[in-house]
Amino acid sequence: MLGGLGHVSHIDIKTSDDLLNTIWKWARPPGRQRALDCGAGIGRVTRLLLSRRFHTVDAVEQCPKFVEAARETLRDNEHVGQLICAGLQEFSPEENSYDVIWCQWVLGHLTDEDLVQFFVGCRRGLRADGVIVVKENVATGDQSEYDAADSSVTRPRALLETIFADAQLRVVATRRQHGMPRGLYAVLMFVLRPDEP
Ligand SMILES: C[S@@+](CC[C@H](N)C(=O)[O-])C[C@H]1O[C@@H](n2cnc3c(N)ncnc32)[C@H](O)[C@@H]1O
Repeated sequence: MLGGLGHVSHIDIKTSDDLLNTIWKWARPPGRQRALDCGAGIGRVTRLLLSRRFHTVDAVEQCPKFVEAARETLRDNEHVGQLICAGLQEFSPEENSYDVIWCQWVLGHLTDEDLVQFFVGCRRGLRADGVIVVKENVATGDQSEYDAADSSVTRPRALLETIFADAQLRVVATRRQHGMPRGLYAVLMFVLRPDEP
């Protein structure tokens, strides 16, 4: 699931957990009721992070085999709600439903246009004070880099920020994931809130 980099999962989860703790100290923190894990794979982030921090976690994943694997792994986890088999390009969360929408290592599978539409849906899916967290590899140049092995793109930061803005989302915090093996892409975390007029 992490392309042979399973050993980075621990540091990844720890950094994500620290970010949630920081967010919950803000003046207008999101609630802890319901989270959505987007591109959940076999449920790693749901199992190790979100289900430990939220009352209910729903997950959406495109690959039916991964959804089945997640269903099996998470079957005794009382904090897991719906496991939805769908591509993010055709998925829109229920309006006003989620305190946190978590998107990790998946957005490179969507075209720029689909990603803007997906984020518009996520913006509407947030509850009051809710946030979207994006955790993705980021290219250093000014162009997206295509990976033929899994048909994904790695976007530069400026393009991600343009896409967020196009979806009327504002970046309210950014963190870099440290402790990743050298020679890989930088991994950035963005916390997004609806842009208020
Ligand atoms: C690298 S894995 C990351 C899984 C998980 N987010 C994690 O960090 O452990 C990418 C996941 O995104 C899923 N995926 C790819 N394209 C997708 C799409 N269009 N919609 C939803 N999920 C997708 C893949 O099936 C895979 O499970």
